Amino acid sequence: MLFKKSKGLSLFLMFSLLFVFSFSVMAQKGEVEIFSWWTAGGEKEALNALIELFNEEYPDVEVVNSTVAGGAGFNARRVLKTRMVAGNPPDSFQIHGGAELIDTYVEIKIYGGEELVETYIEASKMEPITVLLEEWDLKDKFNQQILEMTAYKGEYYSIPVNVHRSNAMFYNKEVLEKNNVEPPTDLASFKTALASLDEAGVVPLALGDTNKWPASQVFETFLVATLGPDGYNGLWNGETSVNDPAIREALVHFKDIMQYVNENHSSLTWNEATGLVHDGEAGFNIMGDWAEGYLKTLGWTPGEEFGWMAVPGTEGSFVFITDTFGLPKDAPNPENAKKWLKIIASKEGQDTFNPIKGSIPARLDADKSKYDPYLTDSMEDFANDTLTPSIVHGSAAPKGFVNAMDDIINSFIRTGDVDQAFENFQISHEEYVK
Ligand code: GAL
Repeated sequence: MLFKKSKGLSLFLMFSLLFVFSFSVMAQKGEVEIFSWWTAGGEKEALNALIELFNEEYPDVEVVNSTVAGGAGFNARRVLKTRMVAGNPPDSFQIHGGAELIDTYVEIKIYGGEELVETYIEASKMEPITVLLEEWDLKDKFNQQILEMTAYKGEYYSIPVNVHRSNAMFYNKEVLEKNNVEPPTDLASFKTALASLDEAGVVPLALGDTNKWPASQVFETFLVATLGPDGYNGLWNGETSVNDPAIREALVHFKDIMQYVNENHSSLTWNEATGLVHDGEAGFNIMGDWAEGYLKTLGWTPGEEFGWMAVPGTEGSFVFITDTFGLPKDAPNPENAKKWLKIIASKEGQDTFNPIKGSIPARLDADKSKYDPYLTDSMEDFANDTLTPSIVHGSAAPKGFVNAMDDIINSFIRTGDVDQAFENFQISHEEYVK
């Protein structure tokens, strides 16, 4: 009896061990956790298409699609940071190229009071992926300015999957036609168009800034308009003074157009605001071109129901954003994460994802026949315009400044105090942009 019992027990133990062992081998081989905030219309469909492509290529690897809703990573970034600090990273995650990647996870800065004392690359939370770019022969396949947004001190840290534009404006063609409003050509005719729609009882400009950043994004485009692209770029390389009166001028334009937004703007998300244009309740929407991806999932065709233009006053400038994915140190499934990176870096991956997402590929060899008229227009502008990095979407300035600007614009909407907002902008710039 005793013998039988222990035989049963050891068999049980053996099977359990075998089960645990094979499960962990399976988990090691069979899973990849991808973290992003792509949950809204257009974003979700584009990500799913990429996952499908991955599944075709690697059917034995299960993609764990971890998302935290909230446009522009409003909530996701906090969750990610907590996981990274706790040593519990996903296998790969969405992050904007530029300051957001480098200052948050690559170069760890140590301050003594106001002074930057030391930077620690050794403490980086990311694996350099330069060898992968070389092994896959990819370095010269990307737009170099975009690829450089992922580089620090000679190493690359993530792969750009796309390029979005933040200074885009979309409009409901029928609403404009019905009210005899012509698409504007500059800031002055934009304000006239807004006033006409207002008089006609239509919401002139749809805004959904419950997460703050969509309002800051409108403001950043006005900064480009008043400073000009070179002046704007100078804010990040020390060539433009933060006392430049053009910054004040941008605040004045912002205040002017805020009288034309929907009353409930502070309770809507970016996509709910874009939805107002789709439903015929609003004329214009200033939004990054993920809104184009969203409008298409609502059944609209670019050029038929909706038109587009650069935000008036910013023609010739392309305010860019790049979504990238990297390989965190301590990723539980690094080999599978590399497979994910290989898919998103591939021509096929980029040409699968971007036509749905409303973005253009970061690679130079896209199959243009896969892109709609808005996106081919955007590709042309990207190739010819002056490129200016977005503040709001993490490319131009460190997170501290991005958050400060969100707060400045948010309270400016309530107070309307131009001088105070200008002063706060200057103080925050001095504090965070070093
Ligand atoms: C941006 C991101 C885009 C889009 C947008 C709205 O920050 O780069 O891909 O997702 O947020 O969520």
